Amino acid sequence: MSMNLVTLLYLLASVCFIQALKGLSHPTTSIRGNLFGMAGMTIAVLTTAALIVKLAGGHAGGFGLVLAGLVVGGGAGAVMAQRVEMTKMPELVAFMHSMIGLAAVCIAVAAVAEPHALGIAQPGEPLPGGNRVELAIGCFIGAVTFSGSVIAFGKLSGKYRFRLFQGAPVVFRGQHLLNLVLGLAALVFIVGFWHTQSWVDFLLVAALGFALGVLLIIPIGGADMPVVVSMLNSYSGWAAAGIGFSLNNSMLIIAGSLVGSSGAILSYIMCKAMNRSFFNVILGGFGAEPGAAAATAVQRNVRSGSADDAAFILGNAESVIIVPGYGLAVARAQHAVKELAQKLTAKGVQVRYAIHPVAGRMPGHMNVLLAEAEVPYDQVHEMEDINPEFGQTDVAIILGANDVVNPAALQKGTPIYGMPILEAYKARTVIVNKRSMAAGYAGLDNELFYMDKTMMVFGDAKKVVEDMVKAVE
Ligand code: TAP
Repeated sequence: MSMNLVTLLYLLASVCFIQALKGLSHPTTSIRGNLFGMAGMTIAVLTTAALIVKLAGGHAGGFGLVLAGLVVGGGAGAVMAQRVEMTKMPELVAFMHSMIGLAAVCIAVAAVAEPHALGIAQPGEPLPGGNRVELAIGCFIGAVTFSGSVIAFGKLSGKYRFRLFQGAPVVFRGQHLLNLVLGLAALVFIVGFWHTQSWVDFLLVAALGFALGVLLIIPIGGADMPVVVSMLNSYSGWAAAGIGFSLNNSMLIIAGSLVGSSGAILSYIMCKAMNRSFFNVILGGFGAEPGAAAATAVQRNVRSGSADDAAFILGNAESVIIVPGYGLAVARAQHAVKELAQKLTAKGVQVRYAIHPVAGRMPGHMNVLLAEAEVPYDQVHEMEDINPEFGQTDVAIILGANDVVNPAALQKGTPIYGMPILEAYKARTVIVNKRSMAAGYAGLDNELFYMDKTMMVFGDAKKVVEDMVKAVE
């Protein structure tokens, strides 16, 4: 395989990745986007495998190793993708980012140990100065991404007792100063490595990266994890791009830059959706405050009703807005909801869905869920479009959502102050389905549940909605 053909195939793969990102920007084109992504990745992986075999001079051992890598990596990916529940996707994404970060570190170590094997330097020659800087920076970002993603994985899964894996922020005096000092120290050792190509400097850069990854993520509260995951996504892309420069691999540079920039843009969009500054989020201090829920969760009365009562109200409304949240995904109630909407529409009720950008546990979670049930896209509305409609709507029905409709976000001093919410509280009647009065992800009580116009329908979302479907005349 000639290098011209390799370049051409890499270019083709890059075009596929750009088309994938474009397609994934809207539910109607997302399947096409995924297909482009799969095609691009297949071309990139096969071209790289062929390139490695060529560089190994047709050595049978080289081909065997590439094949083993493809089988083990591809097999593990296929099994994990098949087994993972939709609600566990953010953890899987965090895990994958950690692997990308670790891969960047391993490649950088290999390149420093045997630069001639990767065609970076002639045997016996030192690494060129530019490559030293690229490798040290790539290794540093990879190390930050690895350890940061491991902490994010633990915080998102919420099932480990280890303190650093808890959703509540871990803060201590002088934390930001310590991070700054470690960051500056890493810079000094990067310069040192550039100057001397000493292993000590290089390994210290890696060690500081691993430590900083942990320290940067532990003060961030659980509610800010979506931004963190997307930020780590961005880091992993830049780490790959940095290593791509050293290896002179255009595919790594382009794919890494695409991941790096799209992750950064997504982080920005999410910060905007929460009305937060990016630096405020990544420096910690916002999110699930321990004890916040306990402080407000005193016994109070709510008005509750049955699924039949809710069905009666819904059936007599002219307009209904459905607000899906994390609980809907847990209960896997999306098909029942679609059935309910169909029945109401058949009765002449106008039904729309309101999507909050961070509802659920991953970006686009609710869109994916509703798409799975084949809910018509024209009924699904983003927050900015639907918010002005709540005031003229008869019933807002909230299914397994909590934080995204919590009016506490409008009150100064609350941990979620400033996060834009779906203004369900403006509807004439509010129906809320959840299993108990437990708090949502941010650990806060929700004033909406205690309003006079609110009726709580307790129970698992799937069971409750199925009962509503039966009860709608
Ligand atoms: P949450 O605030 O987490 O509230 C979900 C509610 O669903 C809970 O209060 C729970 O109450 C209820 N629930 C759970 N299982 C249920 C079931 N089987 N049937 C009925 N209800 C059930 O969800 P949200 O409003 O979607 O907000 C998302 C939150 O997650 C935000 O704070 C966001 O920042 C955070 N987050 C988002 C992401 C992304 S990218 N979307 C990622 C990580 C974190 P009960 O226990 O009483 O039933």
